[in-house]
Amino acid sequence: MNVKRANLVDRTVRYLEAGDGGRAVVFLHAFPLSADQWLPQMRRVPRGWRAIAPDLRGFGGARQAGPDAENLDAQAADVLALMTHLDIDRAVIAGLSMGGYIAFAIVRRARPRVSGLVLANTRATADSAEAMAGRDRMIDLVQREGAAAIAREMMPKLLGPATRQEQPDLEMAVRQLIEANAADGIAAALRAMKARPDASPMLPAIECPTLIVAGEEDALIPEADVEAMRRAIPAATRVTIPRAGHLTNLEAPGLFNDAIAAFLADVAACDPRT
Ligand code: MLT
Repeated sequence: MNVKRANLVDRTVRYLEAGDGGRAVVFLHAFPLSADQWLPQMRRVPRGWRAIAPDLRGFGGARQAGPDAENLDAQAADVLALMTHLDIDRAVIAGLSMGGYIAFAIVRRARPRVSGLVLANTRATADSAEAMAGRDRMIDLVQREGAAAIAREMMPKLLGPATRQEQPDLEMAVRQLIEANAADGIAAALRAMKARPDASPMLPAIECPTLIVAGEEDALIPEADVEAMRRAIPAATRVTIPRAGHLTNLEAPGLFNDAIAAFLADVAACDPRT
């Protein structure tokens, strides 16, 4: 696994890269983490695949958020620009939570470049009025008290009860990932998520193979939202990770990686161009 930097037109992107196969999978992290969320996946990239995990604008190594970080479409354009820079024409896009929202924005902008989708712990719907008011409260909080306050607020919702009880080190590691981010980047992402459109109408037109991953103890994504996506996307399959909350890839990396490996094998079998 390597940590790399790509110089794009208006910024430098830090990303993780592992595997040297000819097919690509791009992992998009959750709010308010960073590319490092995907370290357990970078350690087990299936043969024949190249895995990329960028810091999304405003997170991790990308300290300068800028106005584009307030827009998930611009975040999607960033991911596509990185793919182009790395000579990746098509990829499986694997997004967890906010990463899933950006995956929908990528499908909307550049469907032919998506050979498969992993939608983990995410939803297609836009924010409700109540959720938007919650975003405003979080923006206020991060501007007043910084990333540590966001970590304090979110930790109980990010990890499931079983993980919090049995993996105290993981709780510490996630807290550190959150606290490493700048307040500006966190606030920008909150504004971007608040403004995102409802992706539900486009679900029936998603033709590529799609894996939906849910956490049995996910306190942030209701079961009804997961099932709505599964029913609406024609080629969707679903895996539920037992005893895991919102961050399934970190809480149960073995089961998550098994699900990804099986899905990538299916994608490769049905799409020789991937
Ligand atoms: C995430 O994990 O990316 C966030 O919880 C998503 C959200 O707040 O809607």
